[in-house]
Amino acid sequence: MDGLNKSMYDIGSDSAFAILARSQELEKKGNSVINLGIGQPDFPTPQNVVEAAIKALRDGHHGYTASNGIKELRRAVANDFCKRNNVEINPDNILITPGGKSIIFYTLLMFGEPGAEIITPDPGFIAYKSMIDYTGARAVSLPHRMENNFSFDADELISLINDKTKLIILNSPANPTGGVVSEVELIKLAEGLLKFPKVFILSDEIYSRILFDNHKHISPLKYKEIRDRVIVLDGWSKTYSMTGWRLGYGIYPKEIFGFAEKLAINSHSCVNSASQFAGIEALEGDQKPVNDMIIEFNKRRNFLVSELNKIENIQCKQPGGAFYVFPKIKKENMNSVEISKYLLEKKFIATVPGSSFGKNGEGFLRVSYASAFENLEKFIVCLKDLMNE
Ligand SMILES: Cc1ncc(COP(=O)(O)O)c(C=O)c1O
Repeated sequence: MDGLNKSMYDIGSDSAFAILARSQELEKKGNSVINLGIGQPDFPTPQNVVEAAIKALRDGHHGYTASNGIKELRRAVANDFCKRNNVEINPDNILITPGGKSIIFYTLLMFGEPGAEIITPDPGFIAYKSMIDYTGARAVSLPHRMENNFSFDADELISLINDKTKLIILNSPANPTGGVVSEVELIKLAEGLLKFPKVFILSDEIYSRILFDNHKHISPLKYKEIRDRVIVLDGWSKTYSMTGWRLGYGIYPKEIFGFAEKLAINSHSCVNSASQFAGIEALEGDQKPVNDMIIEFNKRRNFLVSELNKIENIQCKQPGGAFYVFPKIKKENMNSVEISKYLLEKKFIATVPGSSFGKNGEGFLRVSYASAFENLEKFIVCLKDLMNE
């Protein structure tokens, strides 16, 4: 269409939402669809958090708040981050946003432009590449391979940097693979980046509380030598089952915080105030619902990985975190889109094809286990049917 900014045609979409829309269409026709496609916990927001939002509304918190978020919430975020990562954060460097996704968008607007390069995980969260493309920058794929437990290789990452590189996106635990970045690679990366003092990191830590076995979350913000160029993204959506509340945050280095804040002021103005009060209670209140959710996810993960690996021509790594498994499925004459389509159209089970997450995702399927155990059992039966056909 004439008149539109041409970059509009470069924005990709999120297949998980397209698959959700198709699932809803199928449900309207009377089918009951099992949704293992969308990335949201199947638990309610903890009741104490809901009550805090209701109280905030009753107490009259109905207006705009400061654009960067209310001070009490930014303090609560700084305390929580320090408790989990042992790194002190100035609350003035924290920007509260309507979901972590806004931090991806604002950060890519800050660094992306024609001629720039941004290194992004492949397979990786779809919004990264869509928004890099929108800015006109070149998205440079950083392979996250199955044989490497879906982590990255720091030497390979450093070899992708050149004088056009502006930003590296990291995501651990990762969507879509559940992979956790190893400390060894992070240390190597921090050392390697000393040669490239202008390159920033966006560390997407939205799944950092959802970890299994002995995995520990390590934020690149921990490394003093690169601290002044690390941006952290986190939020409440996954940890506290608050996807619909739209609450997330970014921690920005002091020198660039003002730019992120201006993007916030000129777009969303502020996050709705009741959600912000709920966010304080989530961080400071009882953590039992979070711990219970992780225990339940762990059981589902163990079940899926064990069952998937029993099926011929399927290999599945034990993911260290998040709530996805990412099995490699070899089926003659079917690529990942066709496998996902078969499961949705014939068995009414929604999953996301691995190829939606980048070229290294081909041959894989993303299966969210944020769904009841019996749904996962049905999925295994249906997948076996497909493999035996
Ligand atoms: C890797 C990753 N980052 C960020 C987000 C954004 O989450 P939200 O905007 O709901 O906080 C998601 C959501 O699916 C995600 O998977």
